[in-house]
Amino acid sequence: MHPTQAPWPLTRFRRLRRTPALRALTQETTLTTGDLIWPVFLCDGVKQRQPVASMPGVERLSLDQVVAAAAAARDLGIPVICLFPYTDPVLKTATCEEAWNPENLTNRAIRAIKAEVPEIAVMTDVALDPYNAHGHDGLVQDGIILNDETVEALVKMALAQAEAGADILGPSDMMDGRIGAMRAALEAAGHKDTAILSYAAKYASAFYGPFRDAVGASGALKGDKKTYQMNPANSDEAIRLVARDLAEGADMVMVKPGMPYLDICARVKETFGAPTFAYQVSGEYAMIQAAAQNGWIDGEKAMVESLMAFKRAGCDGILTYFAPAVAKLLQA
Ligand code: PBG
Repeated sequence: MHPTQAPWPLTRFRRLRRTPALRALTQETTLTTGDLIWPVFLCDGVKQRQPVASMPGVERLSLDQVVAAAAAARDLGIPVICLFPYTDPVLKTATCEEAWNPENLTNRAIRAIKAEVPEIAVMTDVALDPYNAHGHDGLVQDGIILNDETVEALVKMALAQAEAGADILGPSDMMDGRIGAMRAALEAAGHKDTAILSYAAKYASAFYGPFRDAVGASGALKGDKKTYQMNPANSDEAIRLVARDLAEGADMVMVKPGMPYLDICARVKETFGAPTFAYQVSGEYAMIQAAAQNGWIDGEKAMVESLMAFKRAGCDGILTYFAPAVAKLLQA
Protein backbone atom coordinates (compact mmCIF):
# COMPACT_ATOMS: atom_id res chain seq x y z
CA MET A 1 0.00 0.00 0.00
CA HIS A 2 1.14 3.54 -0.82
CA PRO A 3 2.30 5.22 2.42
CA THR A 4 -0.13 8.17 2.11
CA GLN A 5 -3.12 5.87 1.83
CA ALA A 6 -5.25 5.29 4.92
CA PRO A 7 -5.87 1.59 5.57
CA TRP A 8 -9.17 -0.13 4.91
CA PRO A 9 -11.90 0.59 5.89
CA LEU A 10 -10.94 4.29 5.99
CA THR A 11 -9.98 4.01 2.35
CA ARG A 12 -12.63 2.41 0.19
CA PHE A 13 -11.83 2.73 -3.52
CA ARG A 14 -15.39 1.90 -4.44
CA ARG A 15 -16.60 5.25 -2.98
CA LEU A 16 -15.39 7.05 -6.11
CA ARG A 17 -16.75 4.42 -8.50
CA ARG A 18 -20.27 4.57 -7.09
CA THR A 19 -21.96 6.86 -9.66
CA PRO A 20 -21.29 8.06 -13.22
CA ALA A 21 -20.69 11.59 -11.87
CA LEU A 22 -18.02 10.43 -9.42
CA ARG A 23 -16.42 8.23 -12.04
CA ALA A 24 -16.32 11.16 -14.50
CA LEU A 25 -14.78 13.41 -11.86
CA THR A 26 -11.95 10.99 -11.11
CA GLN A 27 -11.25 9.85 -14.69
CA GLU A 28 -7.51 10.23 -15.35
CA THR A 29 -7.43 9.97 -19.14
CA THR A 30 -9.65 11.33 -21.91
CA LEU A 31 -10.08 10.51 -25.56
CA THR A 32 -11.12 13.33 -27.89
CA THR A 33 -11.56 13.71 -31.64
CA GLY A 34 -8.42 15.88 -31.57
CA ASP A 35 -6.39 12.75 -30.82
CA LEU A 36 -7.25 11.03 -34.09
CA ILE A 37 -5.35 10.51 -37.34
CA TRP A 38 -7.50 8.70 -39.92
CA PRO A 39 -5.62 6.42 -42.38
CA VAL A 40 -7.48 6.07 -45.71
CA PHE A 41 -6.78 4.00 -48.82
CA LEU A 42 -6.83 5.59 -52.25
CA CYS A 43 -7.72 4.02 -55.59
CA ASP A 44 -8.01 5.27 -59.16
CA GLY A 45 -11.27 6.03 -60.91
CA VAL A 46 -14.38 8.03 -60.15
CA LYS A 47 -17.06 7.31 -57.55
CA GLN A 48 -15.14 4.24 -56.43
CA ARG A 49 -15.62 2.78 -52.97
CA GLN A 50 -14.00 -0.66 -52.93
CA PRO A 51 -14.49 -2.66 -49.73
CA VAL A 52 -11.33 -4.19 -48.24
CA ALA A 53 -12.40 -7.74 -47.37
CA SER A 54 -10.03 -8.22 -44.44
CA MET A 55 -10.96 -4.83 -42.90
CA PRO A 56 -14.75 -4.74 -42.48
CA GLY A 57 -16.01 -1.16 -42.73
CA VAL A 58 -12.92 0.10 -44.62
CA GLU A 59 -13.04 1.01 -48.31
CA ARG A 60 -10.55 2.22 -50.88
CA LEU A 61 -11.73 5.60 -52.12
CA SER A 62 -11.29 7.37 -55.46
CA LEU A 63 -10.24 11.04 -55.35
CA ASP A 64 -13.75 12.49 -55.42
CA GLN A 65 -14.72 10.20 -52.55
CA VAL A 66 -11.62 10.96 -50.49
CA VAL A 67 -12.27 14.70 -50.77
CA ALA A 68 -15.79 14.09 -49.45
CA ALA A 69 -14.35 11.88 -46.71
CA ALA A 70 -11.90 14.61 -45.73
CA ALA A 71 -14.73 17.13 -45.46
CA ALA A 72 -16.72 14.69 -43.31
CA ALA A 73 -13.67 14.10 -41.12
CA ARG A 74 -13.13 17.83 -40.68
CA ASP A 75 -16.78 18.24 -39.70
CA LEU A 76 -16.31 15.49 -37.09
CA GLY A 77 -13.31 17.32 -35.63
CA ILE A 78 -10.68 14.85 -36.89
CA PRO A 79 -7.50 16.92 -37.37
CA VAL A 80 -5.49 14.67 -39.72
CA ILE A 81 -6.15 12.32 -42.64
CA CYS A 82 -3.33 9.98 -43.73
CA LEU A 83 -3.16 8.70 -47.31
CA PHE A 84 -2.15 5.23 -48.55
CA PRO A 85 -2.39 4.43 -52.27
CA TYR A 86 -3.48 1.21 -53.94
CA THR A 87 -1.18 1.31 -56.94
CA ASP A 88 -2.04 -0.24 -60.29
CA PRO A 89 0.28 -3.28 -60.64
CA VAL A 90 1.45 -2.04 -64.07
CA LEU A 91 2.99 1.01 -62.35
CA LYS A 92 5.07 -1.12 -59.97
CA THR A 93 8.72 -1.38 -60.97
CA ALA A 94 12.00 -2.44 -59.36
CA THR A 95 13.14 1.22 -59.45
CA CYS A 96 9.89 2.59 -57.95
CA GLU A 97 9.86 5.91 -59.88
CA GLU A 98 6.07 6.17 -59.52
CA ALA A 99 6.81 6.96 -55.84
CA TRP A 100 8.05 10.47 -56.72
CA ASN A 101 5.80 11.11 -59.72
CA PRO A 102 4.14 14.48 -58.97
CA GLU A 103 1.01 13.05 -60.60
CA ASN A 104 0.82 9.81 -58.66
CA LEU A 105 -2.37 8.96 -56.82
CA THR A 106 -1.20 10.24 -53.45
CA ASN A 107 0.10 13.56 -54.78
CA ARG A 108 -3.12 14.16 -56.73
CA ALA A 109 -5.12 13.38 -53.60
CA ILE A 110 -3.04 15.79 -51.47
CA ARG A 111 -3.71 18.62 -53.92
CA ALA A 112 -7.41 17.80 -54.22
CA ILE A 113 -7.89 17.70 -50.44
CA LYS A 114 -5.86 20.84 -49.75
CA ALA A 115 -7.86 22.69 -52.44
CA GLU A 116 -11.28 21.67 -51.13
CA VAL A 117 -10.72 21.02 -47.40
CA PRO A 118 -7.74 23.18 -46.40
CA GLU A 119 -8.55 22.91 -42.68
CA ILE A 120 -7.67 19.22 -42.38
CA ALA A 121 -3.98 18.32 -42.13
CA VAL A 122 -2.83 15.81 -44.73
CA MET A 123 -0.28 13.17 -43.75
CA THR A 124 1.45 10.83 -46.18
CA ASP A 125 3.35 7.56 -46.13
CA VAL A 126 6.98 7.73 -47.25
CA ALA A 127 8.03 4.20 -48.26
CA LEU A 128 8.45 2.41 -51.55
CA ASP A 129 6.27 -0.67 -51.01
CA PRO A 130 3.14 0.45 -52.91
CA TYR A 131 5.30 1.14 -55.99
CA ASN A 132 7.80 -1.69 -55.71
CA ALA A 133 7.63 -4.78 -57.92
CA HIS A 134 9.31 -6.54 -54.98
CA GLY A 135 6.75 -5.32 -52.43
CA HIS A 136 9.48 -4.13 -50.07
CA ASP A 137 9.79 -0.67 -48.52
CA GLY A 138 13.24 -0.30 -50.05
CA LEU A 139 15.04 -0.94 -53.33
CA VAL A 140 16.11 -4.55 -53.73
CA GLN A 141 19.29 -5.84 -55.33
CA ASP A 142 20.17 -9.54 -55.35
CA GLY A 143 17.71 -10.13 -52.52
CA ILE A 144 19.24 -7.38 -50.33
CA ILE A 145 17.22 -4.31 -49.34
CA LEU A 146 19.55 -1.39 -50.10
CA ASN A 147 19.71 1.33 -47.44
CA ASP A 148 21.47 4.40 -48.84
CA GLU A 149 20.04 4.11 -52.35
CA THR A 150 16.57 3.78 -50.80
CA VAL A 151 17.12 6.92 -48.72
CA GLU A 152 17.87 8.86 -51.93
CA ALA A 153 14.63 7.60 -53.45
CA LEU A 154 12.67 8.43 -50.28
CA VAL A 155 14.01 11.98 -50.31
CA LYS A 156 12.64 12.43 -53.85
CA MET A 157 9.32 10.98 -52.73
CA ALA A 158 9.18 13.25 -49.66
CA LEU A 159 9.94 16.35 -51.74
CA ALA A 160 7.17 15.50 -54.23
CA GLN A 161 4.67 15.11 -51.38
CA ALA A 162 5.78 18.35 -49.71
CA GLU A 163 5.51 20.10 -53.08
CA ALA A 164 1.95 18.76 -53.46
CA GLY A 165 1.10 20.36 -50.11
CA ALA A 166 1.38 17.58 -47.51
CA ASP A 167 1.41 18.92 -43.95
CA ILE A 168 3.01 15.88 -42.31
CA LEU A 169 5.31 13.29 -43.89
CA GLY A 170 5.28 9.81 -42.38
CA PRO A 171 8.44 7.86 -43.23
CA SER A 172 7.42 4.25 -42.53
CA ASP A 173 10.33 2.53 -44.26
CA MET A 174 12.80 2.02 -41.36
CA MET A 175 15.92 2.76 -43.43
CA ASP A 176 18.77 4.30 -41.44
CA GLY A 177 19.47 8.00 -41.98
CA ARG A 178 16.28 8.89 -43.78
CA ILE A 179 15.00 11.48 -41.31
CA GLY A 180 18.16 13.59 -41.46
CA ALA A 181 18.33 13.33 -45.25
CA MET A 182 14.68 14.30 -45.65
CA ARG A 183 14.87 17.17 -43.18
CA ALA A 184 17.92 18.64 -44.93
CA ALA A 185 16.31 18.31 -48.37
CA LEU A 186 13.06 19.90 -47.16
CA GLU A 187 14.94 22.84 -45.66
CA ALA A 188 16.98 23.31 -48.84
CA ALA A 189 13.85 23.22 -51.00
CA GLY A 190 12.03 25.82 -48.90
CA HIS A 191 9.65 23.37 -47.22
CA LYS A 192 10.75 24.42 -43.76
CA ASP A 193 7.29 23.98 -42.25
CA THR A 194 6.59 20.48 -43.52
CA ALA A 195 6.49 18.28 -40.42
CA ILE A 196 7.89 14.76 -40.08
CA LEU A 197 6.15 12.11 -38.00
CA SER A 198 8.73 9.35 -38.00
CA TYR A 199 7.69 5.73 -37.79
CA ALA A 200 10.59 5.44 -35.37
CA ALA A 201 9.82 2.18 -33.57
CA LYS A 202 8.20 0.03 -36.21
CA TYR A 203 8.22 -3.70 -35.61
CA ALA A 204 8.28 -6.57 -38.12
CA SER A 205 4.72 -7.56 -37.29
CA ALA A 206 2.13 -10.10 -38.36
CA PHE A 207 -0.52 -7.47 -37.66
CA TYR A 208 0.08 -5.65 -40.98
CA GLY A 209 -1.51 -8.43 -43.05
CA PRO A 210 -4.83 -6.76 -43.93
CA PHE A 211 -3.06 -3.47 -44.83
CA ARG A 212 -0.93 -5.25 -47.42
CA ASP A 213 -4.18 -6.52 -49.00
CA ALA A 214 -5.62 -3.01 -48.91
CA VAL A 215 -2.67 -1.45 -50.78
CA GLY A 216 -2.21 -4.49 -53.02
CA ALA A 217 1.31 -5.27 -51.76
CA SER A 218 0.65 -8.80 -50.48
CA GLY A 219 1.16 -10.47 -53.86
CA ALA A 220 4.46 -8.79 -54.64
CA LEU A 221 6.11 -9.31 -51.25
CA LYS A 222 8.32 -12.35 -50.88
CA GLY A 223 9.74 -13.17 -47.48
CA ASP A 224 9.58 -10.73 -44.59
CA LYS A 225 10.80 -7.27 -43.54
CA LYS A 226 13.01 -8.35 -40.66
CA THR A 227 16.22 -6.78 -41.99
CA TYR A 228 14.73 -3.30 -41.59
CA GLN A 229 11.73 -3.48 -39.25
CA MET A 230 12.37 -4.18 -35.56
CA ASN A 231 12.48 -7.46 -33.70
CA PRO A 232 9.31 -7.64 -31.54
CA ALA A 233 11.50 -8.80 -28.64
CA ASN A 234 13.32 -5.45 -28.36
CA SER A 235 12.62 -2.43 -26.18
CA ASP A 236 15.95 -0.59 -25.60
CA GLU A 237 16.44 -0.51 -29.36
CA ALA A 238 13.15 1.42 -29.69
CA ILE A 239 14.48 4.07 -27.32
CA ARG A 240 17.70 4.37 -29.31
CA LEU A 241 15.77 4.67 -32.58
CA VAL A 242 13.49 7.40 -31.22
CA ALA A 243 16.53 9.28 -29.86
CA ARG A 244 18.20 9.00 -33.27
CA ASP A 245 15.14 10.18 -35.23
CA LEU A 246 14.52 13.15 -32.90
CA ALA A 247 18.19 14.10 -33.20
CA GLU A 248 17.88 13.97 -37.01
CA GLY A 249 14.93 16.39 -36.96
CA ALA A 250 11.73 14.36 -36.55
CA ASP A 251 8.95 16.54 -35.11
CA MET A 252 6.90 13.61 -33.82
CA VAL A 253 7.48 9.90 -33.38
CA MET A 254 5.38 6.78 -33.74
CA VAL A 255 5.25 3.32 -32.23
CA LYS A 256 3.74 0.65 -34.46
CA PRO A 257 1.79 -1.63 -34.07
CA GLY A 258 -0.11 -0.25 -31.09
CA MET A 259 -1.76 -2.50 -28.57
CA PRO A 260 0.92 -5.23 -28.42
CA TYR A 261 3.51 -2.45 -27.86
CA LEU A 262 1.91 -0.26 -25.18
CA ASP A 263 5.00 -0.72 -23.00
CA ILE A 264 7.06 0.91 -25.78
CA CYS A 265 4.58 3.81 -26.06
CA ALA A 266 4.87 4.46 -22.32
CA ARG A 267 8.66 4.24 -22.31
CA VAL A 268 9.04 6.53 -25.33
CA LYS A 269 6.74 9.20 -23.89
CA GLU A 270 8.36 9.04 -20.46
CA THR A 271 11.89 9.15 -21.84
CA PHE A 272 11.57 11.95 -24.41
CA GLY A 273 8.33 13.84 -23.77
CA ALA A 274 8.06 14.35 -27.52
CA PRO A 275 4.74 14.18 -29.40
CA THR A 276 4.20 10.40 -29.47
CA PHE A 277 1.70 8.49 -31.58
CA ALA A 278 0.65 4.87 -31.81
CA TYR A 279 -0.62 3.19 -34.95
CA GLN A 280 -3.50 0.85 -34.20
CA VAL A 281 -2.74 -1.19 -37.31
CA SER A 282 -4.92 -3.10 -39.73
CA GLY A 283 -4.66 -6.43 -37.92
CA GLU A 284 -5.67 -4.87 -34.61
CA TYR A 285 -8.68 -3.27 -36.31
CA ALA A 286 -9.56 -6.51 -38.11
CA MET A 287 -9.46 -8.54 -34.89
CA ILE A 288 -11.88 -6.22 -33.10
CA GLN A 289 -14.21 -6.04 -36.11
CA ALA A 290 -14.18 -9.80 -36.68
CA ALA A 291 -14.94 -10.60 -33.06
CA ALA A 292 -17.68 -7.96 -33.01
CA GLN A 293 -19.23 -9.31 -36.23
CA ASN A 294 -19.38 -12.73 -34.64
CA GLY A 295 -21.12 -11.30 -31.61
CA TRP A 296 -18.19 -12.31 -29.42
CA ILE A 297 -17.41 -8.82 -28.11
CA ASP A 298 -19.19 -5.47 -28.06
CA GLY A 299 -17.37 -3.78 -30.95
CA GLU A 300 -18.15 -0.22 -29.93
CA LYS A 301 -16.97 -0.68 -26.35
CA ALA A 302 -13.87 -2.58 -27.46
CA MET A 303 -13.06 0.22 -29.91
CA VAL A 304 -13.23 2.93 -27.24
CA GLU A 305 -11.34 0.85 -24.67
CA SER A 306 -8.58 0.02 -27.14
CA LEU A 307 -8.14 3.70 -28.03
CA MET A 308 -8.28 4.92 -24.44
CA ALA A 309 -5.44 2.49 -23.66
CA PHE A 310 -3.13 4.47 -25.95
CA LYS A 311 -3.94 7.72 -24.17
CA ARG A 312 -3.41 6.08 -20.78
CA ALA A 313 -0.03 4.78 -21.95
CA GLY A 314 1.00 8.37 -22.69
CA CYS A 315 0.34 8.72 -26.42
CA ASP A 316 -0.69 12.13 -27.73
CA GLY A 317 -2.79 10.56 -30.45
CA ILE A 318 -3.59 7.46 -32.46
CA LEU A 319 -3.66 6.49 -36.11
CA THR A 320 -6.80 4.37 -36.32
CA TYR A 321 -9.21 3.07 -38.95
CA PHE A 322 -11.88 3.63 -36.29
CA ALA A 323 -11.37 7.43 -36.47
CA PRO A 324 -14.74 8.35 -38.07
CA ALA A 325 -16.69 5.80 -36.03
CA VAL A 326 -15.22 6.88 -32.72
CA ALA A 327 -15.48 10.58 -33.63
CA LYS A 328 -19.21 10.12 -34.29
CA LEU A 329 -19.57 8.42 -30.92
CA LEU A 330 -17.62 11.17 -29.12
CA GLN A 331 -19.72 13.86 -30.81
CA ALA A 332 -23.03 12.26 -29.87
C1 PBG B 1 4.45 0.20 -45.31
C2 PBG B 1 3.42 0.39 -44.29
C3 PBG B 1 2.78 -0.66 -43.65
C4 PBG B 1 1.82 -0.09 -42.81
C5 PBG B 1 1.91 1.30 -42.95
N1 PBG B 1 2.92 1.59 -43.87
C6 PBG B 1 2.93 -2.13 -43.81
C7 PBG B 1 4.25 -2.75 -43.76
O1 PBG B 1 5.21 -2.23 -43.20
O2 PBG B 1 4.34 -3.85 -44.30
C8 PBG B 1 0.90 -0.90 -41.96
C9 PBG B 1 -0.36 -0.28 -41.52
C10 PBG B 1 -1.39 -1.24 -41.05
O3 PBG B 1 -1.18 -2.46 -40.94
O4 PBG B 1 -2.48 -0.75 -40.75
N2 PBG B 1 5.33 1.18 -45.58
